[in-house]
Amino acid sequence: MSRLQVVSGKGGTGKTTVAAALALALATKGKRTLLVEVEGRQGIAQLFETETLPYEERKIAVAPGGGEVYALAIDPELALLDYLQMFYKLGGAGRALKKLGAIDFATTIAPGLRDVLLTGKACEAVRRKDKQGRYAYDYVVMDAPPTGRITRFLNVNDEVAGLARMGPIHNQAQAVMRVIKSPQTEVHLVTLLEEMPVQETLDGVAELRAAQLPVGRIMVNMVRPALLGEPALALTRSPSVAPEVTGALTAAGLSGAKRLVGPLLAQAEEYAERYVLERAQRELLTGAELPLHELPLLTEGLDLAGLYTLAEELRQQGI
Ligand SMILES: Nc1ncnc2c1ncn2[C@@H]1O[C@H](COP(=O)(O)OP(=O)(O)OP(=O)(O)O)[C@@H](O)[C@H]1O
Ligand SMILES: [Mg+2]
Repeated sequence: MSRLQVVSGKGGTGKTTVAAALALALATKGKRTLLVEVEGRQGIAQLFETETLPYEERKIAVAPGGGEVYALAIDPELALLDYLQMFYKLGGAGRALKKLGAIDFATTIAPGLRDVLLTGKACEAVRRKDKQGRYAYDYVVMDAPPTGRITRFLNVNDEVAGLARMGPIHNQAQAVMRVIKSPQTEVHLVTLLEEMPVQETLDGVAELRAAQLPVGRIMVNMVRPALLGEPALALTRSPSVAPEVTGALTAAGLSGAKRLVGPLLAQAEEYAERYVLERAQRELLTGAELPLHELPLLTEGLDLAGLYTLAEELRQQGI
């Protein structure tokens, strides 16, 4: 697995959840991962049931086998201050700029600048080493913007081209692109087995590839269990299904089998329809020729225990 794992996908399909599960899954055997949030929504804190994350790396979970997950919510304004401090040694002037609203202005007015600060911080964590020359984190997992914005977000070089042709911002963009376009990075797309998210995923893959960004895996989330096998599915389409099921129910000693059979068959039909639809979507995804992972729908809702379940699932699928 590459050291920078970027998780994107259609809104609401489970980007934050999958990024967190991936960070946990990669933190096996004493490994350290950093889970990074860039949209300022505190989704990670919510998921791990911790207090609001500051702009500071914090340990938020211990993985089975002793690995550690750290988390960081990158604040673009603070990242800009950090950055100005590093290059221009602003000291108190930085705070004054912030008071004036100049920082706010700079990060709002120039989305490219904002993005290069966010990706720059993540790439810095990827490259960071300790005094012994070991990487500070084995993996950095980014809960990234949705598919519609991911290519622009990662292609910071183009984004800042009109902003800075030289100087520290330009250099920062170059450094970010070196990491993002290298085998050190993989961009994963989360989807559901539904028409719209699948289409968005396929478009996203094409767009990322066209921009020469490294596409990783497709993560199919919230997969519902297979309830009926092929023979039972075929039976739902058979004209003799009603008498056959009524007969079977009666033979099993159920009274009122005639009343039950209608609603039961309606459910089976609904399932059969969904099954055909999902199979078609799965086939479309296979066309992207990328590794495909599937994560189950957790019907009791998603709590911390559920997150560990999804991480274990990813591990079993070879992550
Ligand atoms: N496998 C799953 N089983 C059950 N619920 C899930 C699963 N994955 C995600 N969820 C739930 O679906 C909702 C959306 O998930 P999440 O917040 O991770 O999506 P997102 O793509 O990050 O959304 P946004 O676009 O708003 O950032 C959440 O309530 C989450 O708990
Ligand atoms: Mg999210």
